[in-house]
Amino acid sequence: MENPPQIAVLGGGIFVRTQYIPRLAEISHLFVLKAIWSRSQESANTTVELARKIFPDVECKWGEDGLDEIINDSSITGVAVVLAGQFQVEMSLRLLKAGKHVLQEKPAAASISEAETALSHYNSICASIPGQPIWAVAENYRFEPAFVECKKLMEEIGDMMSIQVIVEGSMNSSNPYFSSSWRRNFTGGFILDMGVHFIAGLRMLVGCEIASVSAITSHVDTMLPPPDNISSVFQLENGCSGVFVMVVSTRAPKIFWRVVGLKGTLQLERANKEGSHGYQVSFHGADGQCKSSFYPFSGVTEELKTFIHDISQATLKKGSSYEAETRLSFVEGARDVAVLDAMLESGIRQGALVQVKKF
Ligand SMILES: *[C@@H]1O[C@H](CO)[C@@H](O)[C@H](O)[C@H]1NC(C)=O
Ligand SMILES: *[C@@H]1O[C@H](CO)[C@@H](O)[C@H](O)[C@H]1NC(C)=O
Ligand SMILES: *[C@@H]1O[C@H](CO)[C@@H](O)[C@H](O)[C@H]1NC(C)=O
Ligand SMILES: *[C@@H]1O[C@H](CO)[C@@H](O)[C@H](O)[C@H]1NC(C)=O
Ligand SMILES: *[C@@H]1O[C@H](CO)[C@@H](O)[C@H](O)[C@H]1NC(C)=O
Repeated sequence: MENPPQIAVLGGGIFVRTQYIPRLAEISHLFVLKAIWSRSQESANTTVELARKIFPDVECKWGEDGLDEIINDSSITGVAVVLAGQFQVEMSLRLLKAGKHVLQEKPAAASISEAETALSHYNSICASIPGQPIWAVAENYRFEPAFVECKKLMEEIGDMMSIQVIVEGSMNSSNPYFSSSWRRNFTGGFILDMGVHFIAGLRMLVGCEIASVSAITSHVDTMLPPPDNISSVFQLENGCSGVFVMVVSTRAPKIFWRVVGLKGTLQLERANKEGSHGYQVSFHGADGQCKSSFYPFSGVTEELKTFIHDISQATLKKGSSYEAETRLSFVEGARDVAVLDAMLESGIRQGALVQVKKF
């Protein structure tokens, strides 16, 4: 590639070290990693030392000055924001205002009200900056090959009759994110932080928005921030109903999406095959046969590749507006948050029916 885009990563946490750096390494021919920034020098230093094994020239930036340097560096066109959920939107808007394309980690926002305010700021930034900076939300589930394949198979199951999303997670003290302080101080706890993935998967499969929800939430495991489990009934705009159950920490983890249609049933389940993690997709057709395939995870790599492609195209077509991939759009991320926000609100109101905010 002649002029690969130059990017920076903001954040030096677990996700940057264990996902961003190795996944970016797989596609390192597509871009130049110019800098890694973290609030503290120590965290920036540790993360940069790790990244230099693959990206020997990456610069180490920290604190307000380091951030200013990234913002002022016009050679950096794209920035990945991988920070505590409470600060991501504010940081993204600051970068967008400076004309950078932004890939922000999920959740898109900490609440519906934050998402609404953020969108109106973004729209006014787009109206005042000619280059139209892209605001992408990194939701890897929309890029997982299993979901992409299942979405195609959905056409074969006929009219949807029932949907189940069952998430029995394994967020215990062995999990590296268990002690993450920002997740413990986040309204909605792990249900919001992790739940957006499962809602994203659901919305992608059914291809229809969730109109209303009713939920019961509870706090049983006091080692976890509240609530730690939720049982919800939801209705899609097309009338079809389903259930969404999420228990944050269980002894026998199991995660699946199951859609029952008039002509068949589709199930997508978290699985492990020959040491690789991924999804088992099973399709039961009208003929009674079951077709089953395994798809290893690759959503994070795919989403990063798409963002790099989008910023390269946007730079080429500078001036005229470029249509970025909709699966990465901030609005899609905000819709996932809206569903959980409605479920959590219903939980607070003992299961009252709550309409999901439309974006
Ligand atoms: C990290 O800190 C050590 C010790 O102060 C120093 O030798 C090293 O150059 C630093 N690395 C980066 C990338 O700044
Ligand atoms: C960044 O640019 C602003 C405005 O041009 C300037 O005030 C500031 O000193 C610059 N900061 C750095 C660290 O270069
Ligand atoms: C956490 O969950 C995993 C998966 O179920 C299990 O293997 C591990 O033993 C659990 N750790 C603790 C401390 O309960
Ligand atoms: C938790 O969040 C509140 C409000 O966002 C903030 O004032 C407080 O400092 C945070 N506490 C910790 C330990 O992060
Ligand atoms: C929450 O999970 C606990 C087990 O950890 C279970 O006893 C309880 O019934 C669950 N509550 C809901 C509402 O799902």
